[in-house]
Amino acid sequence: MLSSAHLHYAYPEAGQQHTVLRDISFSLAKGERVALVGRSGSGKSTLLNVLAGIDVPTQGEVQIAQTPITRLQEPALTLFRRQHIGFIYQQFNLIPTLTLAENMLLPLELLGLSRAEQQQRLKYWLDAVQLAGRAAAFPDQLSGGEQQRVAIARALIHQPALVLADEPTGNLDATSGARVLELLFELTRETLQTLLVVTHSAVVAAKADRVLVLRAGQLENATADAAQHMDGVGW
Ligand SMILES: Nc1ncnc2c1ncn2[C@@H]1O[C@H](COP(=O)(O)OP(=O)(O)OP(=O)(O)O)[C@@H](O)[C@H]1O
Ligand SMILES: [Mg+2]
Repeated sequence: MLSSAHLHYAYPEAGQQHTVLRDISFSLAKGERVALVGRSGSGKSTLLNVLAGIDVPTQGEVQIAQTPITRLQEPALTLFRRQHIGFIYQQFNLIPTLTLAENMLLPLELLGLSRAEQQQRLKYWLDAVQLAGRAAAFPDQLSGGEQQRVAIARALIHQPALVLADEPTGNLDATSGARVLELLFELTRETLQTLLVVTHSAVVAAKADRVLVLRAGQLENATADAAQHMDGVGW
């Protein structure tokens, strides 16, 4: 479903190239749920951004659903992302001036779905993330856990094949974090969506089919000591 071959990412600073990702090659099967762990600064968010086509790698290739996205130009790249990728952030990233329903409908509007189809999907997803009845609320009227559930619905509502989540429970207490996580894993399992979730949490990693470890920009083989990269029981 996804494969990356010999990815490198570097950025220029003070006349020098700083390497963040080195020779990253791996693949994810359809429906696989994989955790990506590693110390702060090891390059996890950068890797997610490169996989999503937000950051452009200095070398290497990413293929998603047989499309070599690293060879796409704008506007094809943005269109591909809108159709095939869902992104969930630690800070929820909801649009504060839009209601919960409007936030959730945004990806469908961008894809030009009919009003009727939009309303049908909205109803389904409001139920799926247990927020029916809150459609007219604004993000700042919701708790952190509720906001992240809206963000999950927004990431899944257009049925993307690939879901990328960057520390989705990082800003939540244990109870809300557990609920958000349960939903994310359950909803992506039903639809056989591929999930790559960056986490510092051993609880999250334990739910994944597989754990990838980044160390200073390089991927290690998953080892029993993957736990040393996480914060134990915390979120
Ligand atoms: N365009 C850029 N300009 C400057 N620094 C960058 C750029 N892109 C990445 N970096 C640096 O690359 C390193 C990796 O950053 P990244 O955010 O990917 O780490 P991370 O593993 O997600 O860390 P955390 O767990 O704290 O979120 C950091 O040192 C960051 O400052
Ligand atoms: Mg990060």
